[in-house]
Amino acid sequence: MSNSKAELLRVQLRWMNECDLDRVYELEQEFSPKPWGPLEFAHMLMHSNCVGMVVEHDSQIIGYVIYEMLENSIKISNICVMPKFRRKGVGSQMIARIAFALPHSTRKEITLAVHESNLIAQLFFRSLGFKAVNICRAEDMKEDIYVMRYRHQPRILPTSLILN
Ligand SMILES: CC(C)(COP(=O)(O)OP(=O)(O)OC[C@H]1O[C@@H](n2cnc3c(N)ncnc32)[C@H](O)[C@@H]1OP(=O)(O)O)[C@@H](O)C(=O)NCCC(=O)NCCS
Repeated sequence: MSNSKAELLRVQLRWMNECDLDRVYELEQEFSPKPWGPLEFAHMLMHSNCVGMVVEHDSQIIGYVIYEMLENSIKISNICVMPKFRRKGVGSQMIARIAFALPHSTRKEITLAVHESNLIAQLFFRSLGFKAVNICRAEDMKEDIYVMRYRHQPRILPTSLILN
């Protein structure tokens, strides 16, 4: 996973805490194409395997990601960046932070579900090395959902490097 942008927006990433929830919820309502309602938010964040991270720029929250630590994988449940800070590598920095742990963890992949109409998100995840691996009917039958996956590939060293 890499982002070749010469200059990424300088941001701070930190864990989401309770004081951030109002602001995160506000951003979700304003800028997410399919915003979660308050119950979805509360339900998700109540789970002990659920992790939230926020991105700050000039001490303001400009984006967030929420993900679940499943038995063998990490599932991105929600990610959003304020429109005026998009295409500056902010989303990539959040995903890269999550992927950073994969080599040292038993969880070797990151998955997510994205609506077929959300082409920007598909392009975003594809640019980071995610591949579409499955397609599911949405519950409301209005549009399909693509399941995308990123797999950590351990580097295979050439056998000639093995010394007897
Ligand atoms: C998807 C999202 C999080 C991406 O965040 P971002 O900070 O803009 O992403 P980055 O700047 O790190 O983009 C990395 C790469 O993704 C691709 N990409 C991102 N936005 C794109 C767009 N609008 N059009 C085409 N490619 C795009 C590009 O390859 C980009 O690299 P480049 O700018 O050097 O060409 C952001 O667009 C967003 O918040 N969308 C609304 C919420 C949402 O749809 N969430 C996903 C739910 S599954």
